[in-house]
Amino acid sequence: MDVLIRPMKLEDISQVHEIDVQSFSLPWPERSFRYELTENQTSRLWVAEVGDPGDARIVAMMVLWLILDEAHIGTIAVHSDYRRMGIGRKLLAHALLHAVDEGVASVFLEVRRSNHTAQSLYAQFGFTLDGIRPRYYQDTGEDALLLSLSGLQEASTRAHLLKILLSQSGEQALMGG
Ligand SMILES: CC(C)(COP(=O)(O)OP(=O)(O)OC[C@H]1O[C@@H](n2cnc3c(N)ncnc32)[C@H](O)[C@@H]1OP(=O)(O)O)[C@@H](O)C(=O)NCCC(=O)NCCS
Repeated sequence: MDVLIRPMKLEDISQVHEIDVQSFSLPWPERSFRYELTENQTSRLWVAEVGDPGDARIVAMMVLWLILDEAHIGTIAVHSDYRRMGIGRKLLAHALLHAVDEGVASVFLEVRRSNHTAQSLYAQFGFTLDGIRPRYYQDTGEDALLLSLSGLQEASTRAHLLKILLSQSGEQALMGG
């Protein structure tokens, strides 16, 4: 299965929102994605799609905020029918490599304490625990783990990201932007 990763467009938002709703108990309203796309200069929004041009389906999305040499992962999710196929890993590696090209040196994110799946994904990239944000999530009062990855401008880190991007389970990554 070929997976194309490319910048998000306005017309992607309904499919992106669908993935968000099935992935999170506190999904963003569609207008948030619209705002990030059209007004927030610090946002970098990515999607992964599969299928032929003209009949492609969006299977994953990600939002990254860039502030000076820091990036913050706003959200990342893969459609439930397409999980555990290496798409989330590829999307994250692709977005971080672009962030590195824009001068980013470190990246941060919050993840639910119970979300071991995502934590396992981040561990593959070398994210480490920076701290705990107690009762961060409004719906359940669950704590957030604050994770970070530094040294993104180092050649070894870039090489690691490239290795992750290209080491697919028999798939070829197509670079769309
Ligand atoms: C987290 C998420 C984005 C991972 O995307 P994905 O495409 O399924 O993940 P990948 O197939 O690229 O897997 C990458 C690694 O993540 C971990 N992982 C993914 N699915 C897993 C699962 N079901 N159980 C345990 N580890 C898992 C593994 O370490 C995996 O590497 P491996 O396959 O070599 O063991 C996806 O599960 C998702 O959308 N979850 C809901 C939204 C969410 O929690 N987002 C993160 C918010 S912080």
